[in-house]
Amino acid sequence: MKIRCIVDNRAGLKSNLYAEHGFSLLVEGNDQNFMVDTGQTPLVLEHNLDSMGITAVDGVLMSHGHNDHTGGIFAIKDTMGINGVKTKFYMHPGVLGQKFALLDGKQRYIGFPTSIDVETLNLEWISENTRISDDMWIFNQVEDHSGFEPIPEYLKVMENGKCSPDKFKDELNLVIKTEKGLVVISGCAHKGIVNILNSVSEYFQDDIYGVIGGSHLMDAPRERIQKTVESFKKLNPEIIALGHCTGFDALCLFKKEFGEKFIPLESGAELSI
Ligand SMILES: [Fe+2]
Ligand SMILES: [Fe+2]
Repeated sequence: MKIRCIVDNRAGLKSNLYAEHGFSLLVEGNDQNFMVDTGQTPLVLEHNLDSMGITAVDGVLMSHGHNDHTGGIFAIKDTMGINGVKTKFYMHPGVLGQKFALLDGKQRYIGFPTSIDVETLNLEWISENTRISDDMWIFNQVEDHSGFEPIPEYLKVMENGKCSPDKFKDELNLVIKTEKGLVVISGCAHKGIVNILNSVSEYFQDDIYGVIGGSHLMDAPRERIQKTVESFKKLNPEIIALGHCTGFDALCLFKKEFGEKFIPLESGAELSI
């Protein structure tokens, strides 16, 4: 199985790939191309898919509604299916919630593209842990195990006409069962990457072999980043590949602590599992 990062906040120095504040990743295996998230803009997703020679996508998991994960959907919704079968999308109904960032008194829309009519998609709604193939699961039943991963207050969702703190009920993660253990792919990990990993390990009663994706440590206090590192040491995954919203401080600390085990994600990064 090969995992390729299509869109990240950084791009490989020697590549001609684009970077943006966004995330998209491709899992290639069992003759299937399965994508997690679509980056923020169709321009970047289309360019990077072309440059990487990716012409077909069987399925797409939307990790949550934020536009840095869903905005690139226009690049694939009508064109990337295989043998006349439209690309299948998996998302939680909460993806369509009106999401905002409220900073310095200013409200900015950061939700799912409003011009997409989801009725036109080949779509399966996911609202609980769901097996989607022999070895792949979509996972969302995340408990607050860690106690140190609060969701930032500035992230809001419109509910009953009121802007409320977003609890990310729409957040979905991909879990791949391998002979070596569980591989967990997160989008932004708004519910906390340690909470997600512990919940996955407990649910499947197996060890975490790989952690790949965003960890939303970019605006976290140093103490939380250090506690996250300590939790990773206990979980002891063999592969740690973080990027997107992980942030510079956390990337540096993970690299320092985990050395070769740690792979900072960037557009074009590849991992074999
Ligand atoms: Fe997000
Ligand atoms: Fe994000």
